Amino acid sequence: MIGKLNHVAIVAPDLAAATALYRDTLGAAVSEPVDLPEHGVTTVFVELPNTKIELLHPLGEGGPIAKFLEKNPAGGIHHVCYETDDIKAAAEKLKADGMRVLGDGEPKIGAHGKPVLFLHPKDFVGTLVELEQV
Ligand code: CO
Repeated sequence: MIGKLNHVAIVAPDLAAATALYRDTLGAAVSEPVDLPEHGVTTVFVELPNTKIELLHPLGEGGPIAKFLEKNPAGGIHHVCYETDDIKAAAEKLKADGMRVLGDGEPKIGAHGKPVLFLHPKDFVGTLVELEQV
């Protein structure tokens, strides 16, 4: 069902500092910050040869990323995203296996304009898992 690791999302309390860390200290290619108001985040994409890191920072008041930072003021890993080729089939299989698909259980258009769904961390070894159809 799952294929490549598409990205690891890391919440950063200071997006400019985190971007500089990946660009200058780790020598990675980083994007300009991209505001995604409908998702309540600003993202910087870190391009690695085999995957991406997405640095996330809250945009606007409230929202899940702001809550994450309240609990984890130093930042931290927020989710991992795996690719899948048929997200509807994946959602049906996961639900049939008793896994909790967050929200109403239906795929939504995610931050990259592609269908995504999120799986409950308690069902996946304490890790929020995103599936993205590619
Ligand atoms: Co993601």
